[in-house]
Amino acid sequence: MICIEISQPGEPEVLKPAERPDPVPGPGEVLIRVAAAGVNRPDVLQRRGAYPPPPGASDIPGLEVAGTVAAVGAGVEGWRTGDAVCALVSGGGYATMCVAPAPQCLRVPATLDLVAAAAIPETFFTVWTNVFDRGRLQAGETALFHGGTSGIGTTAIQLAVARGARALATAGSEEKCQACMALGAVHAINYRTTDFVAAVHAQTGGRGVDLILDIMGGSYVPRNLAALAIDGRLVQIGLLEGEPVAAVDLRRVLGRRLTLTGSTLRARSVEEKGRIAEALRREVWPLVEAGRVKPLVAATFPLADAAGAHRLMESSAHVGKIVLLP
Ligand SMILES: NC(=O)c1ccc[n+]([C@@H]2O[C@H](COP(=O)([O-])OP(=O)(O)OC[C@H]3O[C@@H](n4cnc5c(N)ncnc54)[C@H](OP(=O)(O)O)[C@@H]3O)[C@@H](O)[C@H]2O)c1
Repeated sequence: MICIEISQPGEPEVLKPAERPDPVPGPGEVLIRVAAAGVNRPDVLQRRGAYPPPPGASDIPGLEVAGTVAAVGAGVEGWRTGDAVCALVSGGGYATMCVAPAPQCLRVPATLDLVAAAAIPETFFTVWTNVFDRGRLQAGETALFHGGTSGIGTTAIQLAVARGARALATAGSEEKCQACMALGAVHAINYRTTDFVAAVHAQTGGRGVDLILDIMGGSYVPRNLAALAIDGRLVQIGLLEGEPVAAVDLRRVLGRRLTLTGSTLRARSVEEKGRIAEALRREVWPLVEAGRVKPLVAATFPLADAAGAHRLMESSAHVGKIVLLP
């Protein structure tokens, strides 16, 4: 197979095409002929050497693929050669062939092609487990999504709205704010010109939001706490600001009964990821098939130009997802 290797930690140029033997599906695994592979910000961190693959995971980057089943390992039920499939993987996606644990494989929704399907797993698994599972977002509540035009943000806005919540979002330009509103956000805050804490209070009559999904960390932490309503939940899934956390006023946590939590997806067990896949199949696939939620593909690149895809991601000019085509 052809794959992309990280020749050494560094800039996008370190992503180099290489030839390797096809992976062999072990018991409980599915071998996928990859038609499209999603690019995610964690891949950029891995390329820079800041997010090593967990033990047992492929050293090839890539956390999600879509394609057709090429072979199944022992004990796999429900998948046959030729089936269209999309899958969450803990590495190995930037390749023409990829193995995935069967519990992390999902049918391609009838309304999507394989390119759009490749843009689903990483963000939909992440948003489900953090916004609706850990974050307990309910219909009628209000959520704030930082980075509203990121792969994560575009997914979170659509799913929250489709499930009856109100979505607010932050983004770095007026155009990106418009894109958040087009996805269903009731209000989008240009964080470069407007203080998001004041904007949240203006939008909620001073009450604050019930949930914040944050990708920044650092100086955002105390500001997030100031933007939460009583019983609000702050769910941390990224630390893009990279700085130490500013002092946190824990009296606010006590006084307003706040919850601080967070998670990473990649390190979780196949069983846990399988449970998230079940929830997606039950709760989210009907929304996708009804056209109420769809992955937003901003750009595609040939697999051999994974470096170009990473450059676009690091420019933050995209709205939605970037996809590689082997
Ligand atoms: N915990 C988990 O399980 C998990 C899983 C997947 C992803 N994540 C995290 O979720 C975040 C989003 O991932 P993604 O794949 O959706 O990324 P993405 O599409 O590249 O989006 C990142 C967005 O963040 C915004 N941003 C704000 N400040 C930034 C900064 N200092 N540096 C870079 N971008 C900045 C940019 O939009 P503006 O132009 O509006 O600033 C950018 O579009 C990342 O932090 C990623 O690590 C976590």
